[in-house]
Amino acid sequence: MGGVDPQTNRFLRACRREPVDATPIWLMRQAGRYMAEYRAMREKWGILDLIKQPELACEVTLQPIKAFELDAAIIFADILPPLEGMGLSLEFVKGEGPLIHNPVRTREDVERLRTPSPGESLAFTLEAIRLSRRELDPRGVPLIGFSGAPFTLASYAVEGGSSRQLATVKTLMMEEPATWDILMSKLSTVAGEYLLAQAEAGAHALQVFDSWCGELAPADYRQFALPYTKRTIEIARAGGVPIIHFGVGTAGLLELIGEIGADVIGIDWRTTLTDARHRLGSNVALQGNLDPIALLASWDALRGRAQAVLDYAGDAPGHIFNLGHGVLPQVPVDNVKRLVDYVHTASAR
Ligand code: CP3
Repeated sequence: MGGVDPQTNRFLRACRREPVDATPIWLMRQAGRYMAEYRAMREKWGILDLIKQPELACEVTLQPIKAFELDAAIIFADILPPLEGMGLSLEFVKGEGPLIHNPVRTREDVERLRTPSPGESLAFTLEAIRLSRRELDPRGVPLIGFSGAPFTLASYAVEGGSSRQLATVKTLMMEEPATWDILMSKLSTVAGEYLLAQAEAGAHALQVFDSWCGELAPADYRQFALPYTKRTIEIARAGGVPIIHFGVGTAGLLELIGEIGADVIGIDWRTTLTDARHRLGSNVALQGNLDPIALLASWDALRGRAQAVLDYAGDAPGHIFNLGHGVLPQVPVDNVKRLVDYVHTASAR
């Protein structure tokens, strides 16, 4: 039996700001190193191996769904593989994170970037979505697809890896607006078509991760990032599913992010949901925003903060409980289980 009925599903109803029986919850990075099942898979495989073998990606996607009463699954993938199809050479270095061996630095580098169709370069994730749907449908759990936003993708493409200050990418943006426009146009095409293909493969909702947009001054965000995220979302719209925008450190950008046209806006823990609701108005759902560190604290300390998130969200429809960023590797599994159960019980209408 089963299948996900978008009309009655709790997570999808909350995305549309319709009343729900209890607040839905899922967690960014809900599949990952804090779970023993995931660590066991990682002993045999690298992260890109897990992502590129659809049966394995499907298995990892299901791990947190089997362990907790989560209201949505997110496909196991990463924001960086789309850069490989564009011509960049990607590696995950043990203990250090992602490394791009041939980062984009010049106009010629940007012009060389390809924009292959997702069916050509990301078929493994599209297949993982189809496989995961088969496993999730009988459980009644919807599946989220995702992509990086153009600015966050550009950060990795230009910096060549994780970077604290984003000095190289921001200098390129400030000095060479014409080159920047070509780069960001290509990235918005790739991200938008990838999201659309994920919806066509069966994703019930799509999330755009702009993890580093909070590093931009509002005027730079408005000119150099927002139009491209907007274009990404416009392309993905044809998929006909709710679209979630997520950013970190967005307290100074919320009104601008409201202009992007997402159905749901992810908020980090530095802004209260009451303040976010005030600034964004009632035509958008909110997702968030527990401090990820709270999952390391005692149950008493964690429960108080979970309740505070529910209190700040209030009774109005359109709240999806999540963290303000991803689950950390050192989080105790038991805290995740208790959090998920608590949110359902404490928010039951
Ligand atoms: O949320 C989920 O459960 C789905 C899977 C998912 C991963 N990455 C798997 C992953 C998602 C949604 C992402 C998104 C992602 N990837 C973002 C945006 C969200 C954010 O965290 O800000 C970013 C910036 C990346 C890039 C990335 N991937 C980095 C910087 C790293 C290394 C840092 C780290 O935590 O090790 C990764 C690796 C990665 N992607 C892991 C996972 C589970 C950990 C890898 C491992 O198993 O060693």
